[in-house]
Amino acid sequence: MKKITAKIPEVFAPLMLKKYRIKFCYGGRAGGKSYAFADSLLILGRKQKLLIACLREIQDSIKDSVHKLLADRIAFYGLNDYKVYEDRIDNLITGTRFIFKGLREQDSQKIKSLEGVDIAWIEEAQTISKKSWEILEPTIRKDGSEIWISMNRLYENDPLWVAVAANPDKRTWIKRVNYCDNPFCPQEMIYLAEKCRRENPESYQHIWMGAPMTEADERLINASAVRKAFEFKIASTTSPLVIGLDIARFGSDKTTFCFRKGRLCSKFLSYQKQNNVEVANIATNIIQEYRPMRMFMDIGGQGAGVYDILKDRGFGEIIRGIYFGEKALKADRYFNRRAEMWDKINRWLEELPPPQLPHNEDLFDELVSVNKKFDAKGRLQLEDKEEIKKKLGRSPDLADALALTFAEPVYDYGVPKLYGNGRISAEELFNSANKNSSTDW
Ligand SMILES: Nc1ncnc2c1ncn2[C@@H]1O[C@H](COP(=O)(O)OP(=O)(O)O)[C@@H](O)[C@H]1O
Ligand SMILES: [Mg+2]
Repeated sequence: MKKITAKIPEVFAPLMLKKYRIKFCYGGRAGGKSYAFADSLLILGRKQKLLIACLREIQDSIKDSVHKLLADRIAFYGLNDYKVYEDRIDNLITGTRFIFKGLREQDSQKIKSLEGVDIAWIEEAQTISKKSWEILEPTIRKDGSEIWISMNRLYENDPLWVAVAANPDKRTWIKRVNYCDNPFCPQEMIYLAEKCRRENPESYQHIWMGAPMTEADERLINASAVRKAFEFKIASTTSPLVIGLDIARFGSDKTTFCFRKGRLCSKFLSYQKQNNVEVANIATNIIQEYRPMRMFMDIGGQGAGVYDILKDRGFGEIIRGIYFGEKALKADRYFNRRAEMWDKINRWLEELPPPQLPHNEDLFDELVSVNKKFDAKGRLQLEDKEEIKKKLGRSPDLADALALTFAEPVYDYGVPKLYGNGRISAEELFNSANKNSSTDW
């Protein structure tokens, strides 16, 4: 077997060298957690036969998993003893096997396949529900088996944090790791982190230093994140088009369509004083012209009538009706659907590659006006719509339409094309903008 020298930062040494029931690493972005876990597991799997389960809360496709990271690391080190299959990775010499599963999809039958697991790696553990953990923990029952957890904390009461890390026992190794502890942290990430520290100390603590968000950070959406999203940077994208449709309830509200393709939100269209048939006609034209993959519409008020007309016209595959007040998809985490969708805007703004919004000061005001709170169960809740209306003097139609584009996950294989990899001269920008002006989708 080929001998390699692993590139694993010192802080992660106990992963391979020490025996613990639970190994728990948490911290901000780019701490090197994923790489260190991947490398350590690959090396352990070359020494002895192991069954390794790579787990997360939801895995709609293998693309959501660490499969690609493991395959990349195998290629990087040139480990010919590993063979990468579409849904598993095997070591041809030791017999080690990596499998990949979403916990949400595991019923009591399927979970049995995890009973022989030697090491379970839970990635993005901040999203693991209490229920998933309660099913998983006793399932990893083989003698000497270990559970490895990597997490970027979201809230004070993330279920797995409460269950495992808040009061660790001596069978638990727990380590906070941030980008400053990662000797391999790319310069670009360090730059982004330092910039965030200067411009936005609160989100810096959360995103980069791994601190949970606290109730004191009242604003749901950070103003500078919205400002940054207004900067023009994405030339085009291959992501599918999703449209959010917020339908006016009162005379002064506007019926608003929001167009979003992955990281690029390209435009809003607003209409005032339209009846149901007129709104349905506009929606029909938009669907026929732009061929969205989905159109999510608010059916709390007037919208129900519009929904029925569109369904009757044969657009049932494309349209989905959403009640802002209904139960969230992740009901253990969000007070209702509205809070869940708005929080998705928040994540979308924070994630990389950087997102883009059309520059619109009304949208800015709407996005940053909303305060968040936590209900008795610790779930994220937005302040009442009436309060927001008082502050804005109107209803947040643009932001609600944007929120609707996040109503359900849409399978997205797309990649945004950035101008000059994010760096571009004014001249280049001008030229490419001219070239693209006729292809406005
Ligand atoms: N062992 C390593 N060798 C080379 N680069 C690494 C290594 N560990 C981390 N990195 C770099 O640091 C970045 C962040 O690491 P990652 O494991 O994704 O952090 P985290 O999971 O904590 O967010 C990676 O994208 C990679 O560029
Ligand atoms: Mg990671």
